Amino acid sequence: MDKYVIHGEIPLKGTVAISGAKNSSLPLMAASLLTDEPVILHNVPDLMDIRTMIALLTYLGKKVTIEDTHTLRIEEVSSQSYEAPYDIVRKMRASIAVLGPLLGRRGRARVSFPGGCTIGPRPVDLHIRGMKALGAEIVIEEGYINATCPKLKGTSMNLLGSFGPSVLGTENVMMAAVLAEGTTVIEGAACEPEVADLAQCLNKMGAKISGAGTSVITIEGVERLHGVEYTTIPDRIEAGTFIAAAGITGGEITLTNTCVAHLAEPIEVFSKAGVEIEILSHTTLVARGKTIRPVEVETKPYPFFPTDLQAQLMAMVTLADGISIISEKIFPDRFLHAAELCRMGADIHVDGAVAVVKGVPRLSGASIMASDLRAGAGLVLAGLAAKGKTEVLRIYHIDRGYEHFEEKLRALGADIQRRPQEE
Ligand code: UD1
Repeated sequence: MDKYVIHGEIPLKGTVAISGAKNSSLPLMAASLLTDEPVILHNVPDLMDIRTMIALLTYLGKKVTIEDTHTLRIEEVSSQSYEAPYDIVRKMRASIAVLGPLLGRRGRARVSFPGGCTIGPRPVDLHIRGMKALGAEIVIEEGYINATCPKLKGTSMNLLGSFGPSVLGTENVMMAAVLAEGTTVIEGAACEPEVADLAQCLNKMGAKISGAGTSVITIEGVERLHGVEYTTIPDRIEAGTFIAAAGITGGEITLTNTCVAHLAEPIEVFSKAGVEIEILSHTTLVARGKTIRPVEVETKPYPFFPTDLQAQLMAMVTLADGISIISEKIFPDRFLHAAELCRMGADIHVDGAVAVVKGVPRLSGASIMASDLRAGAGLVLAGLAAKGKTEVLRIYHIDRGYEHFEEKLRALGADIQRRPQEE
């Protein structure tokens, strides 16, 4: 296990190229199960979750070749297997994305029930509701979701849950429905750009999907899908993280290979929090850290402020000249990083799903522990701004979802090293 050792108080300066979106690449890879022809994906980030999905697809009878660092070629060797085992699913909850494609094309799926995680309970009732609506028989047994249906049938359904729409739930049902008989209408669909990206790729494979990116998606079932060559969208969460890095260190970072349109709300929120953001083109922007100002923010489904940027924003406004209020509307328990930030001198009071962050003049280095991927990124940002030495433990969480994070930060001038962590 590794840790980061960071010496802070260096304003980050330079240019960073944003990687392809993890949350697009994972379902796109799962979509390869919908065809026996080769699927070639470009702009796939080189990170742990992708390697976990490669392991899962290999287990399910695919041969995955990494053609250059960011291009995957996925070919079918066998279509007999239909199980996503616990050993793989426990490493990455997004493994559930194979449920829809397996059921849609192989008529059967046995997927380990993903448990909760440090950001709180992670139910999959909406995925199950969608599969049942399409005619699947579902039995939960021995920790597995066992789903069977020789031929799914299109139908209308509402996928809205008590915390809003589900991103992976929408993607799963969409993938199951592309090969179903007849037309499926999903109301209460997630509108995230990653859902639209998946639909665009599926359409290129021969699917007939309209409305993806809005809350109503219509899928006309087709007989079969063919192979595809497709490029994923840029990672908007990685982009937001580097905007926060400029903000918290008072630096100036140019982000390239990004998609400014997908960042509208984060740009607005980080601007209010004192980052001067200059948009140079639809793929390039400059973020300049100025005086950090307090904000009042709610995380909500796209197009609103993403929960996946909450920890990074919180780290930044610990240094604001006033009181910020951050409400978590998607994962109400997602505040484990707050206590770690307090160990660095932050003043944060969490009450239920609301964090009140009273700005302090400075943070000081400490040993802190990453509890999940985005919390880990938030703690690294805090370390980059703090006085003295910060050690961020359990960075395997960060490795799951940030491509070459420390290399990218070092190229911007950060003093950050990876070291083995003795337990
Ligand atoms: C995806 C993202 C994750 C992000 C999250 C919310 C991927 C691989 N991961 O996760 O980075 O933080 O969206 O933007 O794309 N819910 C239910 N029942 C379900 C499913 C979800 O109640 O069956 C609830 C969840 O507990 C949560 C809310 O719905 O409160 C949204 O979760 P969801 O959109 O499903 O998250 P994921 O798709 O798992």
